[in-house]
Amino acid sequence: MADAKSNSIEVNEAQIAAHWKEEEYYYPTAKFISQANLVDTEVMKRFGLDNFPECFKEYGDLLDWYKYWHTTLDTSNPPFWKWYAGGLLNVSYNCVDRHLSNKKGKAALIFVPELEDEQHIVITYQELFVRVNETAAMLRDFGGLKKGDRVTIHMPMVPDLPVTMLACARLGVIHSVVFGGFSGAACGDRIADSGSRVLITSDGYFRNGKIQNHKEKADVAVARAKELGAQVDKVLVWRRYPGKYISETPMVKGRDFFVDDVMKDFNGKRVEPVPMLSEDPLFLMYTSGTTGKPKGIQHSSGGYLAYAAGTARNILDIHPDDVYWCMADIGWITGHSYIVYGPLALGTTSVMYEGVPTYPDAGRPWRIAERLDVNIFHTAPTSIRQLRKVGPDLPKKYNFHFKLMVTVGEPIEPDVWRWYYDEVGKREASIVDTWWQTETGGFLCSTKPALDPMKPGSAGPGVPGIHPVIYDEDAKELPPGSNKAGNICIRNPWPGIMQTIWGDPDRFVKTYYSKYCRNPKSKDWRDWPYFAGDGALFAADGYIRILGRVDDVINVAGHRLGTKELESACLTIPEVAEAAVVPVVDPVKGRVPEVYIALKPGVSADHGEVQRKVVNAIENMIGKIARPSHVWVADDMPKTRSGKIMRRVLAAVSNNMPVGDVTTLANPDIVESIKVMVQSQTKRAEVTDAPDDIKHFGKVE
Ligand code: WT7
Repeated sequence: MADAKSNSIEVNEAQIAAHWKEEEYYYPTAKFISQANLVDTEVMKRFGLDNFPECFKEYGDLLDWYKYWHTTLDTSNPPFWKWYAGGLLNVSYNCVDRHLSNKKGKAALIFVPELEDEQHIVITYQELFVRVNETAAMLRDFGGLKKGDRVTIHMPMVPDLPVTMLACARLGVIHSVVFGGFSGAACGDRIADSGSRVLITSDGYFRNGKIQNHKEKADVAVARAKELGAQVDKVLVWRRYPGKYISETPMVKGRDFFVDDVMKDFNGKRVEPVPMLSEDPLFLMYTSGTTGKPKGIQHSSGGYLAYAAGTARNILDIHPDDVYWCMADIGWITGHSYIVYGPLALGTTSVMYEGVPTYPDAGRPWRIAERLDVNIFHTAPTSIRQLRKVGPDLPKKYNFHFKLMVTVGEPIEPDVWRWYYDEVGKREASIVDTWWQTETGGFLCSTKPALDPMKPGSAGPGVPGIHPVIYDEDAKELPPGSNKAGNICIRNPWPGIMQTIWGDPDRFVKTYYSKYCRNPKSKDWRDWPYFAGDGALFAADGYIRILGRVDDVINVAGHRLGTKELESACLTIPEVAEAAVVPVVDPVKGRVPEVYIALKPGVSADHGEVQRKVVNAIENMIGKIARPSHVWVADDMPKTRSGKIMRRVLAAVSNNMPVGDVTTLANPDIVESIKVMVQSQTKRAEVTDAPDDIKHFGKVE
């Protein structure tokens, strides 16, 4: 009993139980510190709230402006903040043109095709300049696009994607990039919402060694948009191999055009960058909320670029002569800020990889890193877990050395963090666990890589100029060391914050500000904390541990348990490679967690024994309250094409609800076999009208 007590924390309905064990610190190496960008120990003072908002002048000063701003932060219409008001700039100029004077022959982008026998392609800053100009000319004169128009870009990881984005930025055209793995219908919804008349797409690309027919999605997208009342006039199709069409889907006459054909008329064309107001929108990025249709998150030109560049410099430690590789997809915000805009604004070399990390085997990322001498590596826990699962000993076989590594997108289990640190980082690299969101444009919480020790599983404190606060449901602050989890908010605006939800300013205010706004009439930014929608915990040292979306939390008999804590417990069992926890409706406790695990390859352990170990680990690390109703051993987890485990699908299976559309998953077949396993053993009655939290649990779209 005494033991159980020391392990559990008193909670009430408004608080989330937090059961994490404190981890030990790891320290950056002297070698890293000696070369780092951010070594000023006074930086937090410089970016303190008493210097706000002028502290962000130094981020704005990383850019070239046609006209310097007159007001660093205009707060006249909260929460519609205007950063660097009065300033004029062009984002494409800042990412391309301004580097020509001293590094036109330097690699801007290195494209690594998935097929290993295809050579990688180096695009110098000069070459990028040429391509961006020609593409901008084509979009303007053939596409009929001008400043303020929206264009939807549905493309895979090929260099034509960043070229197209930068060409839009050059013209002041607002791009809306839809992740290539999304379906045509999802793309169509976004076309209609943004009011794009032009869709830019590709014929195909490689995934797991196979050609994907991408063009067929364009037809579906245009049809879907039409259903929603939106007319697409032109579909511009980039070909994976210019001159050779690799899709089987016919081109629609008068509507569909091959970019490489059309571009012949624009050879050698140059387009003057259009000076844009700092607050003119640069792009939309659709993301999911708890309910309803995807939100078009609108980002600005000046504030966004300044923040992407400033954080890339300070937190990613990007220098112009680094070779930086972010394995994310440009179709997500990580790719926008930290493959394209941040790194290119700083004039560095940004590597982009077409395919899956484990193709043709789990040594691929390490071969790429070795060959290109990558020294900064950026990826997500899901990939780290996958690479560890399939090739735990592979990194040491390759001669690459990272100075810095990034993890982003979901909480990382300390055990996974340590593998990343020991095996991938070879105990030389600093790790930054960066917490942020589509809405925030850039990092919110992370350690400063040369200044702060690392703590596995914790994102760290707010980055310079970001002042996080954790509130309970009654807007009471839960200070560092209180050991209670609540809703993480940011006290102050920052340059990368979204401007609004496209076409829905009310939803913007409601979703992100209403909950904790102290006075809706106030013009004082102090009254408008930003609500992030994540549960989090402030440790005594001021480090923040993100527990996951507030809607990913399971309420068991009045205790809210972060699904990630349970999963972390599962992963302490050596045989377990991956784990996912979902809520199941229970007549007595409200909800109980159910666990899905995948075992490491070659583990021939008795399933019954592993299942018992998992239950014990959960009971020991969290408490009996978290005891799962079942531990299912699955061959694999259902995953999105971007590698996130689809807990929504597992929750549906566990609750015997319809699983919905799983065709966009990376491995749709696994769902059926899990369903058969679960249903044959539980014989649960079919649920048609599940409670909202179950219905929405783990929804990513
Ligand atoms: C949500 C935002 C940030 C770019 C990619 C995802 C979760 C993000 C972390 C992290 C724990 C994290 C949060 C957040 N998240 N980074 N380092 N540790 N959780 O962008 O799709 O907008 O998702 O991802 O729950 O709210 P996104």
